[in-house]
Amino acid sequence: MTQPAIVELRDVTKRYHDKTILDAVSIAIRPGEITAMIGPSGGGKSTLLRSINGLNTIDGGEVIVGENRITQNATQSNDAARRIRRTVGMVFQDFQLFPHLTALGNVCEAPIRVAGKSRREAESRGRELLKQVGLGERFDHYPSQLSGGQKQRVAIARALAMDPQVLLCDEITCALDPELKHEVLDVLEDLRREGLTLIMVTHEIGFARRAADRVVVLAGGKIVEDGPPAQVLDAPQTERTQRFLQNVLG
Ligand SMILES: Nc1ncnc2c1ncn2[C@@H]1O[C@H](COP(=O)(O)OP(=O)(O)OP(=O)(O)O)[C@@H](O)[C@H]1O
Ligand SMILES: [Mg+2]
Repeated sequence: MTQPAIVELRDVTKRYHDKTILDAVSIAIRPGEITAMIGPSGGGKSTLLRSINGLNTIDGGEVIVGENRITQNATQSNDAARRIRRTVGMVFQDFQLFPHLTALGNVCEAPIRVAGKSRREAESRGRELLKQVGLGERFDHYPSQLSGGQKQRVAIARALAMDPQVLLCDEITCALDPELKHEVLDVLEDLRREGLTLIMVTHEIGFARRAADRVVVLAGGKIVEDGPPAQVLDAPQTERTQRFLQNVLG
């Protein structure tokens, strides 16, 4: 039995000025699926993630997340985009933590201000989440007092605090030393076990091979390859994917 998609893009097109960045991209993501998205710089990976949670508008097609749908006429602040952002969390390469708030403060901000939780409830859940990402000793630290790997784990806990159905990660380990990358990737593997739907743009081919159910290659605004890691990474069908993999794997 095939489960219905939790995220679906139908012919999504995005242009900046006259340049087509996403060229009629269609993809369906099933609940609990871990998708690694790879591809050359400028291929549209970040734009695709941003289109999923309504952080940028689209010029054609539709994005469907659960009951909500964004079409080309939607602004970033329209109701569907807002509702989608409530169910789709996002973690960025550069953390984007609030510098003036502690780790716990960062994690509790949206649950209190956006979801209307009480401070007590938000903090209790926030502590749980920080423990889950291995930061049980760091509740009161400010971002400036944390390593890159720790900051990124706070950012993950902050996204999880809104109980997202889907988590989008945009190259979240790329600014980190190899050692710290592991801390963050380990957290993602735990989330995978919990059944969260993850779409991650990554250059970590080893992680994609190990943890992803599916690898999608985006190049020139099109999906040029899509399949299980063993197929896409070890037996790529397209010349574009072969060339990309040669370049990353060296
Ligand atoms: N706000 C914007 N205004 C104009 N052009 C943009 C904007 N955002 C992205 N682009 C362009 O869209 C194209 C795709 O960018 P995108 O950031 O989606 O690529 P990417 O695959 O994530 O690349 P990278 O691997 O380098 O992060 C690039 O040519 C970029 O310059
Ligand atoms: Mg990018």
